[in-house]
Amino acid sequence: MEISARIFLAGAGPGSAGLLTVRLAWLLGRAGIVLHDSLIGPDVLALARPGAELVDVGKRCGGKAHPQAEICRLLVEAGQSGALVVRLKGGDPMIFGRAAEEMEALRAAGLAFEVVPGITAASAAAAALAVSLTKRDVSRAVHFLAAHGSEGGLPPHDWAALAAAGGTLAVYMGVRTLPVLAQKLVAAGMAPDMPAAAVENVSLPDQRIWRSSLAMLPAILARVEPAGPVLLLIGAALG
Ligand SMILES: C[S@@+](CC[C@H](N)C(=O)[O-])C[C@H]1O[C@@H](n2cnc3c(N)ncnc32)[C@H](O)[C@@H]1O
Repeated sequence: MEISARIFLAGAGPGSAGLLTVRLAWLLGRAGIVLHDSLIGPDVLALARPGAELVDVGKRCGGKAHPQAEICRLLVEAGQSGALVVRLKGGDPMIFGRAAEEMEALRAAGLAFEVVPGITAASAAAAALAVSLTKRDVSRAVHFLAAHGSEGGLPPHDWAALAAAGGTLAVYMGVRTLPVLAQKLVAAGMAPDMPAAAVENVSLPDQRIWRSSLAMLPAILARVEPAGPVLLLIGAALG
């Protein structure tokens, strides 16, 4: 396999090692340093070359996660060491993965890098539900939404435009803000009985799925209190 750089921003997919790209598995078998998020599971990390330095950059020290600036600094430092470096993120690095900051830091340091895509949680959740996100004549768009922004709460999306667009909404980081998100969508004209689903720990052995309606899903999640990451899907394609 050809490589054009020594630093790779790579997506590990939603969790199952079976959903990694062949390219990433190949790179993990050769990397000297792997900087990974905390949610990257042991099955994926087991693909790393024996003796590789594995650094959990999501690890909480003193109750706080590494700030993004510190992760960028560690990444640049690793890149400058000359080792083959894999920066491993969950899902796809370009979807809510803070890849922009890390690419900017590498560019500023004059370090070449390559991005290796991964399966994003929305694709894996669609597979788990056996639902086409773009069901013909039902949903002509997919919107990837963050339900938790840098300000700490639900970002100010254009709810009326989303409700009117008639596509499938794939909602990341949405468990805590789902009650408000559902209210906003209904107030903007979306039907309360719009089909909706939540998938926790998609692709992993402890995956759990809840299928309901936009109006009912918040109460279901409040009752089951999922502890793992959850991807929400909302739209007529789920019906
Ligand atoms: C910071 S975002 C990272 C998204 C990731 N880059 C991707 O492409 O899937 C974290 C959110 O992704 C979703 N997510 C990531 N992994 C998941 C999984 N295994 N099961 C369900 N949702 C997941 C959840 O909504 C979680 O709160």
